[in-house]
Amino acid sequence: MANAALFWTSILVVLATAFFTVSVLGDHSPIAHFSSGRHRDHIRKMQAFKASLVRHDSVPPAPSPSSAPQPPQGTRNPRVYRVTSYGADPTGKTDSTAAILGALSAALKGPSEGFLMKGITNLGGVQVHLEGGNYLISQALRLPASGVGNLMIHGGTLRASDDFPTDRYLIELSPSSSTSKSQENNETSMDQPQLSSASYNYEYITLKDLMLDSNHRGGGISVVNSLRVSIDNCYVVHFTTTGIAVQSGHETYIRNSFLGQHITAGGDPGERNFSGTAINLMGNDNALTDVVIFSAAVGVMISGQANILSGVHCYNKATGFGGTGIYLKLPGLTQTRIVNSYLDYTGIVAEDPVQLHISNSFFLGDAYIVLKSINGVVNGVNIVDNMFSGSGKGLGIVQLDQSNGAFKNIDQVVVDRNNVRGMGLKATVARGSIQGNGSSWTLDFNPVLLFPNLIKHVQYSLSASDGAFPNHVLRNVSENRVIVASDVAVSGSLYAMVDQGMAG
Ligand SMILES: *[C@@H]1O[C@H](CO)[C@@H](O)[C@H](O)[C@H]1NC(C)=O
Ligand SMILES: *[C@@H]1O[C@H](CO)[C@@H](O)[C@H](O)[C@H]1NC(C)=O
Ligand SMILES: *[C@@H]1O[C@H](CO)[C@@H](O)[C@H](O)[C@H]1NC(C)=O
Ligand SMILES: *[C@@H]1O[C@H](CO)[C@@H](O)[C@H](O)[C@H]1NC(C)=O
Repeated sequence: MANAALFWTSILVVLATAFFTVSVLGDHSPIAHFSSGRHRDHIRKMQAFKASLVRHDSVPPAPSPSSAPQPPQGTRNPRVYRVTSYGADPTGKTDSTAAILGALSAALKGPSEGFLMKGITNLGGVQVHLEGGNYLISQALRLPASGVGNLMIHGGTLRASDDFPTDRYLIELSPSSSTSKSQENNETSMDQPQLSSASYNYEYITLKDLMLDSNHRGGGISVVNSLRVSIDNCYVVHFTTTGIAVQSGHETYIRNSFLGQHITAGGDPGERNFSGTAINLMGNDNALTDVVIFSAAVGVMISGQANILSGVHCYNKATGFGGTGIYLKLPGLTQTRIVNSYLDYTGIVAEDPVQLHISNSFFLGDAYIVLKSINGVVNGVNIVDNMFSGSGKGLGIVQLDQSNGAFKNIDQVVVDRNNVRGMGLKATVARGSIQGNGSSWTLDFNPVLLFPNLIKHVQYSLSASDGAFPNHVLRNVSENRVIVASDVAVSGSLYAMVDQGMAG
């Protein structure tokens, strides 16, 4: 503590010196008169700043049920609404739902500074501070009004009570039904930009440094029809439904967060029973960055376009036990990028992928990618530059689920340049050679080619080792076999390169 005090004192001295310098310069300028006033203003702000530091270190007064809510005193104070000032119990013993809703309500009624998007009141960066407490919550914390933005809720733990409604989320960024905006943003294509801005519920809400414990009752966070929401450094556990659900709207950014239905570090004996979904993106243009999902039946479910996943580590329920790391359930217009991620004993399923990019990722423990046919379409798919490691059973790194019918519309699919240990390499591009002595050569690419009976492009060379100079021709490429025939028997080698995705 002494060191900390010394540190802050030094900071203040440095700050004070800086302000003095400004003030001295100001004395010689035409605005000297205003400068000295500004100097006093700075000193006063610094004193307020120092006071706020002291408050951080002091033990908060024990809340008493009779203490009336104390909104921040004076309009010049920083707009930080401390939930214990509204009667919240940071020990988690008594229900803090009403108190936290009170703080949220006060924050929303505080001074505002114009608008963000049309119809979204700018709350100016107001904060609802959980003060490092652990609060018991018996009803969803739903913002009392829609049409607000520039608000942060941060710094503590929320835990669902034993009677928390199982169909709700601890924090719901959705207005109560009476003020609900219409779901006009339920667009199916990102090609139609949203022009009617007033129809968003919230803009620039930040949920930061929060532990959300759903206590095996319902979900963690729900974001509905909102714009530019940031979920940063959150630990979301014990959900039974969904850890974080994002529905319509744009640009919910989930960063540096950890999600698990059960608190475990892998190899959990109850893993077969994991049931929930950690993150469900039912909207466009969202991002998951550096997110770990350690327990859930489905790690990430995506049914909107143009989402990007980067640095996502899934070790939820293993594929062998029926789990899925990332499920892309948007057949026909996928537009998803998965990069720099780590699929750990659990894989990726993509239904009729159209524009999908998976690269620079690591698949461990026989994890693989399934392309699942719905209407037989796979188009614009890159699965390149990944590493796969397995147990030596030879499982294919990319597999087809054609139980609903075969893929028949296959275009611009590139599965190539992946490396494999203990798994079966699968690709859409393959090279091979064979030695022979005769007038017919057959190269069988079935062990490596992903799609059955599909060679769109082939290049071959026939090399005769005995000095012969035969006429030769490509006879047949069906069933993924390249057959070359020569007019006379020769001893030599056939080299061929085939491509399933691109007609060349
Ligand atoms: C969009 O609307 C349809 C029907 O109107 C509904 O079934 C679907 O759940 C909605 N999707 C989203 C993301 O709101
Ligand atoms: C998993 O669920 C089954 C059936 O509900 C139950 O019998 C079993 O004890 C559970 N296993 C674990 C480890 O929780
Ligand atoms: C190729 O086969 C023919 C007979 O079919 C044989 O005479 C010839 O020696 C063989 N060449 C080589 C290099 O094995
Ligand atoms: C190519 O081979 C397949 C059998 O694999 C056969 O059915 C087909 O008729 C052959 N095509 C030609 C042009 O010989």
